[in-house]
This record gives sequence, structure tokens and C-alpha cells, in this order.
Amino acid sequence: MLPTAVSARAPGRVNLIGEHLDYNGGRSLPIAIDLATTATVTRSADGRTRCRSSAETPGWTAYVTGVLAALEVTEPLHVTITSDLPIGAGLSSSAALECSVALAVNDLLGLGRSRSELVQACVRAETEYVGVPTGGMDQTTSLYADAGAALLLDFADDSRTPVPFDPSDAGLTLLVIDTRVSHALVDGAYAARRADCESAAKHLGIQHLASATADQIEGLPGGRIGRRARHVFTEQARVRAYVDAVAADHWQTAGTLMTASHESLRDDYEVSCPELDLAAGTATALGALGARMTGGGFGGSAIALAPSDLLERIRNGVAAAFADNGHDAPTFYEVEASRGAEVLSAT
Ligand code: GLA
Repeated sequence: MLPTAVSARAPGRVNLIGEHLDYNGGRSLPIAIDLATTATVTRSADGRTRCRSSAETPGWTAYVTGVLAALEVTEPLHVTITSDLPIGAGLSSSAALECSVALAVNDLLGLGRSRSELVQACVRAETEYVGVPTGGMDQTTSLYADAGAALLLDFADDSRTPVPFDPSDAGLTLLVIDTRVSHALVDGAYAARRADCESAAKHLGIQHLASATADQIEGLPGGRIGRRARHVFTEQARVRAYVDAVAADHWQTAGTLMTASHESLRDDYEVSCPELDLAAGTATALGALGARMTGGGFGGSAIALAPSDLLERIRNGVAAAFADNGHDAPTFYEVEASRGAEVLSAT
């Protein structure tokens, strides 16, 4: 017997390193965090699909209807959303919404889709129905992450390798600094970066830019396209080095790589903004081992890998720097590698 009501929970994510590499056939190293969205889905008694949410933001129902369309669901449903994941903070609230709905509907209607099929449906919802050509890192993390481990995602062969990640053993905390500036992915800047990379790959005659060699990158014409390609190339190398550093407990090296990633995203990929630069720069100046923007950029959140005994000083210092520069107060979250999406109840 199929259930009549299903609740499923899907978390947001923080990408440790490997930014803007998913759609370039490269590698990313995200963790799921313990902030999540829950979808409760029932069959509709009135013949109409209805969506309700505890936090309504313009356009949010497109993510739900996009998932239903991608899963080829025609039956009318009632979808109720609750969430403690901040929206527009660069922590993947949209992927969490998509994945919670997909998982609940899959169970409610007995669709029998695998998690990888659900990832694909959620990515299609975002690219085809919402109109942001994202790369799949967020949905894969939300549906596949495990507590205690980051996921090394390789978009060249679609593999997922857990990488144990627990900086607390070394007296460190991963601090999220939400700048509260909303990123503008739908405004085309994200799509423009993706188009730049595709044109660099085309110029080199390769399918994905992340597979380019050092010589190929150096041979590209300078200017904007060259800078975008340089980010992709250097970030790929940083992901490899970061995985090795974490495995060897070389946290200082990991921090240095995070800061280098931020600089590359700021200068070569040009997806940072003054608030993200201030958050990352202030955290590092006050003793974090490293800090960087995380996610698509243009606002959203930075992450800092910081000695736990310096957290208060860092939080106060970042808040003071934001006030001095006339920015709204940032919000802080301490996060750790948390579990992925799950069905909470089916009745
Ligand atoms: C957003 C997209 C992801 C990824 C990141 C940048 O979060 O949804 O697919 O491209 O930006 O790494």
C-alpha cells in the first residue's frame, strides 16, 4: 500500500573547495550541513496542486512545479514546506527544496526512482524550469552526503568518494559567515561564467575545461576567457591538494588553499563581492587558518576554518568590520559535515 502523506528532509550544503568546477567536469568537495528543508506531500483531494511554505519568497513554487514536471508527475498534490535553511545565503536552499520535494514525491507515489535519478530531475527543474544552468553539486550533496565526511565529487566520471572531515579533532571549527547580500544567479552572471568556460573549452577542442593541461591553459588568449580558465585549472589542483592535506591532518595547508581559492574566485573568476572579501579577509586577519566564499558567489556566504578558541573574536571582528563599512550585520553558523536527505515519515 502506498502512503497517503510523506515528509522528507533535505539539507543545504557548504562547498569546502572546488568552486565553479561541477559544470566544467572538475571536482568539488562539499559537505551537507545541519540546516534543512522539509517537504510534506499528500495527494490532493480537490483536484488541484497547491504549495504552501513557512517562508515564501518570490518564485519559490517554480522549484516545486519544476521537480514535479521533471518527475513526470501529473497527479495533483499538496506540498507543504518548512525550513531552517536561510534563503539566498548561498547554502543551497533551492537544491534543498527540490530534493526534499523529489524524495517525498518519489515515496508517496511509489515512483521507484534512484537517488541519482532524483538528482537529475532536480537539476532539470533548476535548469529547464527555473532557468539557472547550475551544475549538480548542490543536489548531489543534499541527496548523497553522510555525517562526518565531505563528498569528493568528480564530475568527469560522476564518482562520489567520501572524505572524512572533522576539524573539531584538531580544535578547529568551520564557521559560516552569511553576508546577507543576496546573490544574483538568476540575473545571468552565473550563466555568463559558464558560457565563458564553454567557449574556452571549445577553443581548445575539449569537452570540459577542467580536463585542460597547463600548456593548453597557457596557450589560451589572455583577457577574460584566459582568467576564467586559469581559475578552473588552479582550483582543480587546489582540490587535490586539499584532500591530501585533510587526510594528513595538515589543517594549516588546508586553510591556505581555501584563501588561495577565494583569491582566484575574486580576481580570475570575478564572482566575489566586497562583503565576501571583507568577511574572508577579516576572518583570516583575526586568526582563521583560511577563509573563502562558498557557492556561486555574488553575495551569499563565506566560510572560515578557525581555531575554536578564536571564534568569538572572529565573529565580533567580522561584525564590527561590516558595521564600519556600512553593511548589514552578518549572520554566523558553526557547521559540521552532516547527513544527507532522508524520508522522515510515511503514513
Ligand atoms: C551554485 C550552483 C552549483 C555550483 C556552484 C559553484 O551553487 O548551484 O552547481 O556551480 O554554484 O561551485
